[in-house]
Amino acid sequence: MVERYVMSIDQGTTSTRCILFDHRGRLVSVAQREHQQHFPRPGWVEHDAVEIWRNLGRVVPEALAGVGVGRDEITAMGIANQRETTVLWDRRTGTPLGKAIVWQDTRTAALVEDLRNHPGDDFFLERCCLPPSTYFSAPRIRWLFDHVEGLERRARDGEVLFGTIETWLIWNLTGGTAGGLHITDVTNASRTMLMNIRTLDWDEALLEFFGVPRVMLPEIRPSSQRYGEARSVLPGVPITAALGDQQAALFGQTCFAPGEAKCTYGTGSFLLQNTGTAVVRSRNGLLTTVAYKIADQPAAYALEGPIAVTGSLVQWFRDRLGLISSAPEIETLARTVEDNGGCYIVPAFSGLFAPHWRSDARGVIVGLTSYITKGHLARAVLEATGWQTREVVDAMNADSSLALKELKVDGGMTSDNLLMQFLADVLDVPVVRPLVAETVSLGAAYAAGLAAGYWPDLEVLRRNWHRAAQWLPDMDPAQRESEYDNWQRAVERSLGWIKP
Ligand code: G3P
Repeated sequence: MVERYVMSIDQGTTSTRCILFDHRGRLVSVAQREHQQHFPRPGWVEHDAVEIWRNLGRVVPEALAGVGVGRDEITAMGIANQRETTVLWDRRTGTPLGKAIVWQDTRTAALVEDLRNHPGDDFFLERCCLPPSTYFSAPRIRWLFDHVEGLERRARDGEVLFGTIETWLIWNLTGGTAGGLHITDVTNASRTMLMNIRTLDWDEALLEFFGVPRVMLPEIRPSSQRYGEARSVLPGVPITAALGDQQAALFGQTCFAPGEAKCTYGTGSFLLQNTGTAVVRSRNGLLTTVAYKIADQPAAYALEGPIAVTGSLVQWFRDRLGLISSAPEIETLARTVEDNGGCYIVPAFSGLFAPHWRSDARGVIVGLTSYITKGHLARAVLEATGWQTREVVDAMNADSSLALKELKVDGGMTSDNLLMQFLADVLDVPVVRPLVAETVSLGAAYAAGLAAGYWPDLEVLRRNWHRAAQWLPDMDPAQRESEYDNWQRAVERSLGWIKP
């Protein structure tokens, strides 16, 4: 019998990857291309949607060629993507109307500040369970309407389409101007500030508030469902899944039961806890988001704590301060000292995300004395990731009746043993890493394979999860709490640095 595979596309903030998985959820082939980051002004971050689409067209044949697999051996394709990034394009020509505005972009700060005052946080929290923030898509659409002459009118006339990245890719894959599908999935739609979290449909009050016409919005679909067939790149292959990348990682980590949680440690870090079919509204600064929806089954929800700066703090330490020459060296440097020497770094480079949601915060280093060495700074860099996770976990435990018992981790930073031990210490729960570290891609493959009948059910997927490493808590509780208190005092110093 010919072996067949599921193809996964992970369109992330820095690169596009194509991975093939087999029946046992093992990685068979991978191809990756980075795309350019555009920083036209301070706080602005843009991508070229056409470059991303071209990269997809390259990585797919590269992944196939890597193992000599033909198109006919691919059962289905699933897509995971960077969320919230906003693309507008011309329905007739398929040409993007400017660059894509990336989730890290803070150009909508003034608009968002206005929203917090009027109509106020509750208006949004009741409908989409998201606090006003520069992080989400809808303020970007409004900003574009306010800054690009004639755009709003053209959108109302049906000439302009909106999408997050999966929408843009699926539209192009399925034919683009020659009849491409204009769809999104519930997880991505739940990050726009335009979808009602309960009805899973675009919310009239939110559309009206932002002045976004329904005609420019994609149809919202389940995350795992046969959407249609690709016409280009991989003609004839069914596209059967789309999820935001962090929800895909939750799926790839097989966190299917309420209470199960994962955190993906990349440039930023994203902790999601499955809350089942219940919409748990956060009172403690977390987001409520859709975790996944399989075909016509009820949607599963999650609480999420996004942390904007974790791995990118290590990059800053490497590239801007030049204190290490490669990211893994941070662990070696941190191990040259016993502890942080009393030094704390709060990396509020573009404000703080969960649980603070303060765009007026900026980074601080506190506790400096002449005793401090670069080793102590390296420790403080790693510990910042641990403490930021602790803040999110505390908020999650306060919001949910399901206290965190174990944290599944993935992403680049999980190769740092010092950090992983520190995490277990400050969270006081075991931290576990799976054998297949590519959980974003695996999650998209799982969702695609389920819809295509390649895997029968969630239980089979669960059996594919194998533990590769575990770190157990080993810190004196009094020390933990006193250091956490220091961290919280450091955070207070970062708040309000930017004057209104
Ligand atoms: O919400 C932003 C998130 O989806 C970005 O993830 O891994 O592409 O940086 P990543």
